[in-house]
Amino acid sequence: MKTQGKRSPHIVVLDADPAILDYVHRILADRFSVGLFTEAAELNRSLRESPTPDLLLMDWHIAENETEENALGLLAKIRASKPSLPIIMLACSAELKEVVVATRMGAADVILKPFRKSDIDLAVQQCLKESGKPPADPDIQGIPLDENTSFVRSSKRMREIESQCALVARADIPVLILGESGTGKEVAAMLIHKMSARSQRCFLKVNCAAMPADLLESELFGYEQGAFTGAVKSKPGKFEICNNGTILLDEIGEMPSALQAKLLQVLQDGSFSRLGGRSSVKVDVRVIAATNIDIKAAIAQRTFREDLYYRLNGFTLRMPPLRERTEEIPILSQHFMCKAVAQYECDPLPISPALMQALTSHLWPGNLRELENTIKRYLVLGDEQAIIDELSPLQSTASFALSAEDFGGSASLKHLVRNLKGSAESAAIARSLEGTGWNRKAAANDLQISYKALLYKIKQYNLSPPQNRQVSMGQAAGFDQAQSA
Ligand SMILES: Nc1ncnc2c1ncn2[C@@H]1O[C@H](COP(=O)(O)OP(=O)(O)OP(=O)(O)O)[C@@H](O)[C@H]1O
Ligand SMILES: [Mg+2]
Repeated sequence: MKTQGKRSPHIVVLDADPAILDYVHRILADRFSVGLFTEAAELNRSLRESPTPDLLLMDWHIAENETEENALGLLAKIRASKPSLPIIMLACSAELKEVVVATRMGAADVILKPFRKSDIDLAVQQCLKESGKPPADPDIQGIPLDENTSFVRSSKRMREIESQCALVARADIPVLILGESGTGKEVAAMLIHKMSARSQRCFLKVNCAAMPADLLESELFGYEQGAFTGAVKSKPGKFEICNNGTILLDEIGEMPSALQAKLLQVLQDGSFSRLGGRSSVKVDVRVIAATNIDIKAAIAQRTFREDLYYRLNGFTLRMPPLRERTEEIPILSQHFMCKAVAQYECDPLPISPALMQALTSHLWPGNLRELENTIKRYLVLGDEQAIIDELSPLQSTASFALSAEDFGGSASLKHLVRNLKGSAESAAIARSLEGTGWNRKAAANDLQISYKALLYKIKQYNLSPPQNRQVSMGQAAGFDQAQSA
């Protein structure tokens, strides 16, 4: 039987007044996924074409300008086509008499205008409870960003990240998001977009490391017919498609240098030309860039332009690794369990104290992505002990030898902990590389970190294959495939 996962309830609001919609949106958006409509026709279309929402808030005046039906007509129509959809009417006290008719026709509640946040909260909660869909724990739920993604935050550090995102969302300046692989850089970019004035426009992500320079250039900036063999007709690039929206340039540290110059120009005046094009195209796109490499080191090595760094760096957001916000692991685990339950349409599994202990002690080199994959694996395999065993070797920090230096009089606790974490991480990576015969792609899969993160860590910990063993052709092929993927 399909079990309803704890996805956020979807609430749609119909009101001709954008200020009211904005107010209701601000009240509900941190706990629910919210759809806003200013016209009955738009709402009707959405009800026909999309899954039925969990609740409808509808203004009494909405249908006044429409020729076919008044609010009662619309209510009757929706009740007939969606009998299980609870409806709350928004009305003025002068209309109360008429609105009573609406409740007789099945409206679940009436909220009188002008209303306060608490009026909406109470009515929504009551209605969802009666329809068997109590709002989920807001911490576990997070802020819904799209159908599959939410921003979960409960630690002080992540609440600060949320405030920084809100602040920078309003400023409309470029943002550079730094952080290890899997820390939620893309999620943070989505949050900034969602909280910005561009939220109703397009959000696009381009992975700058995923393709060769010329392909990436045509992807970003488009091309004119005949620009290269095979360019049979002109095509706009992501910057044009995303006009008035937000573009996320992922893995910006890997962007080829020729393109860095072109990007600099777009950041300076919003203009560029398509490949093979003579005229200049002007766009208004908010650029967010993300990377997990040490960008300052890349500048020092001259693989990344310093002037581009300063342009991108209108604001820098640093996503903390999961090991620095372990207090979030219980909530994130619950969140990922709900997400996986909804995805696989199965019953949730309990997270026992023993499993939670293993989850919270693990070092999570692959950060939230690794945690999410672990929870998914637990749900699919159903074998708690296997997961505990899998997590244990990495967290047995006691087994790592401590050098005399570690205990030296000047070593701070912070320094000691950092060294221990480093040794645990480097030992886990070395073990996995050994186990895969130094096939980096397989080791990255095994460790559940990105291929790039693995290369970075190999360099960071100065790991190298044993000298007496050659990496086989097959293993080398694994290496190359991953590099070009
Ligand atoms: N704050 C969060 N709340 C809920 N889920 C999150 C959060 N941060 C990240 N995730 C989930 O963790 C996974 C990794 O997140 P994301 O892709 O944003 O990381 P990233 O830093 O961009 O990784 P990479 O450097 O590998 O591209 C995704 O499935 C995402 O939905
Ligand atoms: Mg990413």
